[in-house]
Amino acid sequence: MRKNIVAGNWKMNKDLAETKTLISELKGNVITSDAEVMIAPTFTNLLTASESLKDSEIEVIAQNMHFAENGAYTGEISATMLKSIGVKTVIIGHSERREYFNEDDVLLKQKVDSGLENKMRVIFCFGEKLEDRKNGDQFTIVENQIRKALFHLPEESWESIVLAYEPVWAIGTGETASPEQAQQMHHFIRRLISDRYNFDVADSISILYGGSVKPENAKEIFSNPDVDGGLIGGAALNAESFMAIVNAFS
Ligand code: 13P
Repeated sequence: MRKNIVAGNWKMNKDLAETKTLISELKGNVITSDAEVMIAPTFTNLLTASESLKDSEIEVIAQNMHFAENGAYTGEISATMLKSIGVKTVIIGHSERREYFNEDDVLLKQKVDSGLENKMRVIFCFGEKLEDRKNGDQFTIVENQIRKALFHLPEESWESIVLAYEPVWAIGTGETASPEQAQQMHHFIRRLISDRYNFDVADSISILYGGSVKPENAKEIFSNPDVDGGLIGGAALNAESFMAIVNAFS
């Protein structure tokens, strides 16, 4: 059975003191949902976050990593480094990495492979831009992003993959994909995986939606049969709104 997941991507927000404050506020909330809950603070705060959430239900995950194990890659962080501080899940392919740091399908494939070789769970992000959707190209774009970075994987690797559909036009804009648009795309993705692999792989993969998810719209988005949770940006920076989204599953 696939899992429901709500993950907060803090992006480049919250310094150390703010991270501690938000984590203690999160710990003060009761999780009534059956969803797995994750937060992705910035690199400098991962250790503090994972130590203070060690005995909690909230998993601390990374926003990015390099594909190499180590070496001359100034400013980068590897899977082994993340694992050494207890981080077992990493977000790869966020549209902000693709857009501002020129991460392309070839690089993302290497990152996915490195994460899996290191027995990490990979949350792989993808999604079309506004002009793609206006041109009716959203399905082709999404298919290519998934195909190029993931379809070389053997079937068993899919146990460690979570997908996150994040239409770029809905990220940080306040504009959310309608529940119908989200369901339509998630259903398309599941069929794509079923065609390449089989029904069981497609049925057991969690597909998250990301893009302006808020307490007000979470329940409606999550109620779609092919939407298994969310990747939350802005609303994850506040304990009350993040927990309201987490508990939208209960
Ligand atoms: P917002 O929730 O701020 O739109 O961000 C979504 C996102 O990019 C999560 O990774």
